[in-house]
Amino acid sequence: MTKQFAVIGNPIEQSRSPELHHAFAAKTGVNLDYKKILAPLDGFESTTKDFFAHDGIGMNVTVPFKEQAFALCDQLTERAKIAKAVNTLWMQDGKLFGDNTDGQGLVAAIQALGWDLKNSRILILGAGGATRGVIYPLVEAGAKQIVIANRTLARAEQLVSDLKDAVPQAQLSALSLEQLVGEFDFVINATSASLTGDTLQLPECLVFHHAYEMAYGKPSSFLDQAQERQVPSADGFGMLVGQAIEAFSIWNGVKPELKDFL
Ligand code: ATR
Repeated sequence: MTKQFAVIGNPIEQSRSPELHHAFAAKTGVNLDYKKILAPLDGFESTTKDFFAHDGIGMNVTVPFKEQAFALCDQLTERAKIAKAVNTLWMQDGKLFGDNTDGQGLVAAIQALGWDLKNSRILILGAGGATRGVIYPLVEAGAKQIVIANRTLARAEQLVSDLKDAVPQAQLSALSLEQLVGEFDFVINATSASLTGDTLQLPECLVFHHAYEMAYGKPSSFLDQAQERQVPSADGFGMLVGQAIEAFSIWNGVKPELKDFL
């Protein structure tokens, strides 16, 4: 029987999840169909319940519903609890389970580039949901120091205070964007600046050796500056594929190789 999957969001037309999951299915021999579902802004819960009531197996959740998905779940993985957001849903023993695979997607994408996270010092730009979702997986993968720099310093400080107990093996700290200084193995752009077409100006005194932009398919002033400095860099396509692979493997018990889909 064909297993039914979907991604839910609003808007949803832009989603590349169906093509990715169909490609994984073709590679691994899983028989599935994966659709896009546009839910009304006030209709996430009813649309999701309807999907699972009609034999849906698994659902990905995208903007703006990840926090609502978190609130709806009966059971959460550790990383979803820390992220306070869910992008992967499934039913098990009559209960709705939720995970967040975004952070592991980023880790897998960075590792696929051959970049080493062990004992690394990382600067993350931005202090929204995108940053919250990746801290724990980055530390699990070996990051030793993470500095969160945000335009609004108080938001970065709040995130550090929320997350520090969840990652005792790493040192977390907060900076404002104006205070940016120091040397980092990685800089990760988790702001929404590239999505809204805003410029992000990195100061000259900031030194970094790898640059990862979480957005993809958009012009990025962040990536332009990395390229001017001849620093190895990548956009967020690998992270997108990585989070999809992680969801696919939870649902289907078989894990495609990231490098086959980049
Ligand atoms: P997401 O869930 O995608 O992280 P978000 O919660 O809206 O989205 O967070 C967006 C992040 O991008 C915030 O850290 C925001 O900074 P503020 O907290 O100061 O608003 C950051 N951001 C957005 N546009 C920016 C810009 N032009 N320059 C710098 N930071 C920006």
